[in-house]
Amino acid sequence: MTALTLSTSAAPGLRADALVIGVAKGAKGPVVAPGAEAVDKAYDGKLAGVLETLGASGAEGELTKLPAPAGFKAPLVVAVGLGAAPDAEEADDAGHGAEVLRRAAGVAARALVGAKKAAFALPVDGPGAIEAIGEGVLLGAYSFDTYKDTGTSAKERAKNGKAPLAEAVLLGGKPRDAAHKGAVARAVAVSEELNRARDLINTPPNDLTPEIFAAIAQAAAKEHGIKVQVLDEKALVKGGYGGLLGVGGGSAATPRLVKLSYTHSKADKHLAYVGKGITYDSGGISLKPAGHNETMKCDMSGAAAVFAAVVAAARLGLHVNVTGWLALAENMPSGSAVRPGDVLRMYSGKTVEVLNTDAEGRLVLADALWAASQENPDAIVDVATLTGAMMLALGSRTFGVMANDDAFRSTLHEAAEEVGEPAWPMPLPEHLRKGMESPVADIANMGERMGGGLVAGLFLREFVGEGITWAHLDIAGPAFNEGGPFGYTPKGGTGTAVRTLVRLAELTAEGELG
Ligand code: BES
Ligand code: MN
Ligand code: ZN
Repeated sequence: MTALTLSTSAAPGLRADALVIGVAKGAKGPVVAPGAEAVDKAYDGKLAGVLETLGASGAEGELTKLPAPAGFKAPLVVAVGLGAAPDAEEADDAGHGAEVLRRAAGVAARALVGAKKAAFALPVDGPGAIEAIGEGVLLGAYSFDTYKDTGTSAKERAKNGKAPLAEAVLLGGKPRDAAHKGAVARAVAVSEELNRARDLINTPPNDLTPEIFAAIAQAAAKEHGIKVQVLDEKALVKGGYGGLLGVGGGSAATPRLVKLSYTHSKADKHLAYVGKGITYDSGGISLKPAGHNETMKCDMSGAAAVFAAVVAAARLGLHVNVTGWLALAENMPSGSAVRPGDVLRMYSGKTVEVLNTDAEGRLVLADALWAASQENPDAIVDVATLTGAMMLALGSRTFGVMANDDAFRSTLHEAAEEVGEPAWPMPLPEHLRKGMESPVADIANMGERMGGGLVAGLFLREFVGEGITWAHLDIAGPAFNEGGPFGYTPKGGTGTAVRTLVRLAELTAEGELG
C-alpha cells in the first residue's frame, strides 16, 4: 500500500513526481484553495486564471494537470476540484469538509498510478484534515491486480506505469505532532483493513470458499491478538445451525461460522458485529438468471466489512469489546441443496419454511444473530448484501439502516454520515410480518414483494435475543461498484460499512452509547 508521510517542507523544495493542490468552485470561476499559495505566487498570483484557461471550474471530481512553475522540484502540478468554495461568513465551518478532502485526495491518488512519490498540498486545518486526506490517498490508490499481468513482476508493472502510487507526502502535516501522527496511524489502520476487505470481495469465488475465508480470518486474528473460533460443518451439525447448513448444503465447499473476539481490559461495553458471508450466491435451486449472477462474488461483503472492522478496532486498541461473527456459506444448486418447500430448524430452535432459496442471506444471518445474542452484548449490528429491493429503494451508493430501536438507528446513521458513507434510515412496518406466515413452520423466508428490504429486516429481527438493541445495514447497493471509479471508490468491491462500524466502536468506547 502507498506509504504516508507528513512534512512541513515548503511545496517548491519537495522532490516528487507531482504536487497535488486543491481548486474550489467560486461564484466567478475557480478559486485556489489554501495549501497552494506557493504555486499561485510562482504564477504571479494568476493561478486561478491559468486553471480557468485550462478549462478548470473547481467542480468536485475534476482533475487538471499543468506544468510546475520554474523553481519547483516536482515537474507536475495536479489540481483537484473540491466543489463549492466554503462560505467565509460561516466562520465555524470555513474549511472544506472531511469528505470533500477525502474524495479529492482519492481522485488525485487514482490519477497518479505509476508515480513513485507525490506531495499533497491540500487545505489542512488540523488532524481531521490530515486523516481525511490520508484515507483518501490510501483508499483511492487501491488496485486489485492479483489476477492481472501475472507473468510480470511488481517491479515490471511499476515500470509500465501500472503500479499504485508508492509514496504520498502530506504537506502541512507535522511529523512531530502527536495528534497529526495519530491521524496518520488511524488512516493507515482503517484503510489497510478496508482495502483488505476489498481484496476479499474482489477475489473470485473459486478462490474464496468459506473454508479459505475462515483460514484468512484465523491468520489475521492471530497476528493482531484477536481470539478466533471456527465452527466447521461437523461443529455446525452438532450445534444445530440449520440456517447455515441449509444454505451451504448445495455446495461442495462446506459452510463455516467464524467468531472473532477482540477484548480490551478497559472496556465496559460489548458490541457484536454479524456479517453475511455468501462467498457466491447462485440463488440455489431458485437459480438466478444470467445477468443477475455475474457479480455475486460480492455477497460476502458484509462478512468482509465485519472482519475488517474487528481487526481495525484491535489495531487501534479501542476500549470496547467487539465480537465479529462471519456467517460463511456458498449458495449453490445440487442434489444436496435446500429446496423450495423444505423446512429448516434454525439454531434458535425456530423453524423456517424455505420458499425461495435465493433468500439465503437471512437464513445464515438468523443463525449468527442468535449465536451473537447468546453472549448478551450491549448491541448487535449486522451487515449484509441482503436484498435487490434495497438497491431499488436507495440506489447503488446508499445503504439502508433498520433497527429495533430508533435512537440506535440514528446513532448508526450519524456514524455513517460522519465518516462519509451515504446511509439512510428505513422502517420495519409491523404489517409486513403477516406476509411471512407459513402454514407449516414458524415463519417463511419470503413475504410480500413490495418493501422486500424491510421484509428481510423483519425476518432478521425475530432471531435477535429478547431485549437486545439491534441494527441491520442492507449494503446491497453500495457494496460493489459496477460503474467506473469515483472519488476514493474503485470499481468492484468498495468496503462500504467498514468505517461506519469502526466509528460506532469508537463512539461506544468513548461512552457515547447508552
Ligand atoms: N444477494 C442477494 C441480494 C443482492 C442483489 C445483493 C443484488 C447485491 C446485488 C440476495 O441473496 C437475494 O437474492 N435476495 C433476493 C430475495 C428475494 C428472493 C426475496 C432478492 O433481493 O431478489
Ligand atoms: Mn440470494
Ligand atoms: Zn445473497
